[in-house]
Amino acid sequence: MTDEFLNDVSQQRIIETADDFIKTASNARSALEAVVGLLYASIPYYDWVGIYLLDKENVLKLGPYRGEPSPHSVIRVENGICGAAAREKRTIIVKDVNADPRYLACSIKTKSEIVVPIMRGDEVVGEIDIDSDRIDAFSGSDRALLETISASLSELF
Ligand code: SME
Repeated sequence: MTDEFLNDVSQQRIIETADDFIKTASNARSALEAVVGLLYASIPYYDWVGIYLLDKENVLKLGPYRGEPSPHSVIRVENGICGAAAREKRTIIVKDVNADPRYLACSIKTKSEIVVPIMRGDEVVGEIDIDSDRIDAFSGSDRALLETISASLSELF
């Protein structure tokens, strides 16, 4: 667990900065790019950060991301941890991706993952997807941070 880094002060600062980006960006795409960049730069164990957007055919399409290119730029909701989070409309934390049969591999370095849906009302419109090269990297602090940012991002849709 890496709770010691993500303390209340750093968490609050990230939330406020993300809110500023969302309010001042000239368009939704720029705001999503800025928030992805903020998360990737702020937290050392966030080794891949991306946003998937859910289209009308129930397909997740990769939007802005930071980290190595992913082979999974398109994911059907039937597939992967990303698909599970979209279907179940809830945050999923996987402590050890290699022990989860749902996992679609992006990088052999990835050890754990968190996927947080972005909701508009009752509908999933997208997801924040974060991979870490550390096993069991994501705690309740990460969930709280990312669910708050996800709620702010939903204003863009
Ligand atoms: N691991 C994800 C696929 C996306 S990559 O992590 C970027 C999944 O299992 O859905």
